[in-house]
Amino acid sequence: MNEEKKTLFSAIQPSGIITLGNYIGAIRNWKDLMDKCNCIYALADLHTLTVKQVPAQLRSNTYELAAIYIASGIDPEKCIFFVQSHVGAHAELTWILNTMTYPGELSRMTQFKDKSRSHADNVNMGLMDYPVLMASDILLYNADLVPVGQDQKQHLEITRDLAIRFNNRYSETFTVPEPYISSVGAKISSLQDPEKKMSKSDPNVNAFISLNDDRDTIIRKFKRAVTDSDNEIVFSEEKPGISNLITIYSTVTGKSIESIEQEFEGVGYGDFKIAVGESVADLIDPIREEKNKILKDKAYLDSVFKRGAEQAERIAYRTLSKVYRKVGLVERKH
Ligand code: AMP
Ligand code: TRP
Repeated sequence: MNEEKKTLFSAIQPSGIITLGNYIGAIRNWKDLMDKCNCIYALADLHTLTVKQVPAQLRSNTYELAAIYIASGIDPEKCIFFVQSHVGAHAELTWILNTMTYPGELSRMTQFKDKSRSHADNVNMGLMDYPVLMASDILLYNADLVPVGQDQKQHLEITRDLAIRFNNRYSETFTVPEPYISSVGAKISSLQDPEKKMSKSDPNVNAFISLNDDRDTIIRKFKRAVTDSDNEIVFSEEKPGISNLITIYSTVTGKSIESIEQEFEGVGYGDFKIAVGESVADLIDPIREEKNKILKDKAYLDSVFKRGAEQAERIAYRTLSKVYRKVGLVERKH
């Protein structure tokens, strides 16, 4: 780890299909930040258990997500890339932090309330404790920055509160992290209802682009994307559908919004939708193919996980021993 660079931590749950929203909102930024910071990236498999999972599916989703990351340019040689459950310290620090977290703080979290509604048959302690496990993920590595989408901001706030609370009670121990939310693409909308975010759990498959969609499917979904009734390609709050397509085209091609408006002046929605669809297919096609190649080599992925866990463990257990000592637990001698 380079001492001069900031430390960055992020994680994503291996909970199913990865969408273009996840790519633009999360994966793409992880890649761009890799040279600027010491980056630590985890697959948050313990977090996924807070809603019901099919065990075999969870296992294959974890490999699939790892392969997508590597195929998207997250080079495991240049960052620490690991599976959360492989480093026991995450669950262990969660216990300590649980003893200083109040039920009221957790029960008013927006995500907890939403998920309690959408998974009413399984409102478990883990679902409520989700933010404390997330705080442990971040604090174990003394991360300065945490890149997340807008929806995770509240969890970052409780992480900061817990770090400050611990530091005040037991002396300076944790770095208080800052959220890092990118200005463009932090929220990609559904292609069928531009007022909603693009989500993998949308029952309408035309609402999202999956990284497993082939070229024809991608273009077909963009052709069907819901827009307004006028025909001008202009970015505006009053035109959420076309603005979403402009944002996608801009993040995928690297062109600015103004230059896109100029390029497509006088062009109809139909042709613009095809252009967006093709640019997204050009981005996703090689990632999907590379991902499928990587997935065939489980031994390679296992070796990446093994090395990542060893690197992560060294840092995590150093922090955990400090925490154990500060709260008064007797040190284990080796
Ligand atoms: P999730 O799929 O909700 O587990 O989110 C994984 C990561 O992708 C988080 O950092 C989210 O903020 C981000 N993300 C999810 N959906 C979108 C979206 N529609 N637009 C932008 N970012 C997203
Ligand atoms: N809760 C995050 C999400 O759903 C995933 C996550 C788990 C995370 N631990 C984290 C994100 C630590 C940032 C830092 O997207």
